[in-house]
Amino acid sequence: MTQKTIVLTDPGQDQAAALFMMLGAPQAFDLLGIVATAGNIDLTHTTQNCLKLLELANRTDIAVMAGCPRPMAGDLVTAEHVHGPTGLDGPQLPAPTTTISEEHGVEFIIRTLRAASDGEITICSLSPMTNLAMALVQAPDIASRIRQVVAMAGAYFEVGNITPTAEFNVYVDPMAADIVLNAGVKTTLLPLDVTHRMLSTPARLAAMGAIGNRCGTATAEMLTFSQTFDLNKYGWEGAPLHGPCVPAYMLRPDIFTGRQINVSVETGQNLATGMTVADWWGITDRHKNVFYVRDGDPDAYYDLLIECLGNLP
Ligand code: BDR
Repeated sequence: MTQKTIVLTDPGQDQAAALFMMLGAPQAFDLLGIVATAGNIDLTHTTQNCLKLLELANRTDIAVMAGCPRPMAGDLVTAEHVHGPTGLDGPQLPAPTTTISEEHGVEFIIRTLRAASDGEITICSLSPMTNLAMALVQAPDIASRIRQVVAMAGAYFEVGNITPTAEFNVYVDPMAADIVLNAGVKTTLLPLDVTHRMLSTPARLAAMGAIGNRCGTATAEMLTFSQTFDLNKYGWEGAPLHGPCVPAYMLRPDIFTGRQINVSVETGQNLATGMTVADWWGITDRHKNVFYVRDGDPDAYYDLLIECLGNLP
């Protein structure tokens, strides 16, 4: 079934792969618009990166909106050390022939959800959740219109990747994650616990490059660039591939396993800022607000990504 979907993203090579996965599965995703987030890099770059990716995929019909330039509180933390100075380094991508929409990303979310019926719209969050949280604060009535939030965010068993205890997307805007997780909306998290299983081995990257189309080649080249940091850091046979876990979970939930549990976010300024405290063992009686994905089948995951990339130019 096709799901009307809003994408929140700060691409980021892994999120480029996620976006391509959605574009390559039009039977499942009807992309209503993309809200560029400040995260991996500043908003000016993330908006441009979204436009470049749509250009490469011949999908300039999809609207891109700029969201907020910084998190709800505090300064923006970025990740050029992973993604490069443009946030999307690697191959030369086509210059955009389109521009971003004039409407603000938060206004777009509110307007689109208010025009929808209850439970109609899915939010795919690949980035910090700033713009969705801002929309929920400004217009709490929109919560009922959301069918589900599926987000790459958090970590528990794998702890952190930007601090010893925090995953990047939550660390950038812990307050936003806290608001979204407590909005009473059906929410699925794809944390580092599952993304760290999805390693971009040389064989998997070669298979992507061998598709023979420009989106497949560019994805393989982008991931080859961004994996350098993680290969040095972890010493694994490939790097974790985070973003595509979101569309993959929506396309093939059967290849993932998890549990409905409570996840609470540490919003204070301390050693554990941005930590997602996951009550995996049901130790508390806190509300089970999240389906927390802990594991998945990496072969099926990469097969699916390659299949979707193969549907693109
Ligand atoms: C997340 O952090 C970002 O750098 C990646 O694009 C991904 O969204 C993983 O923690």
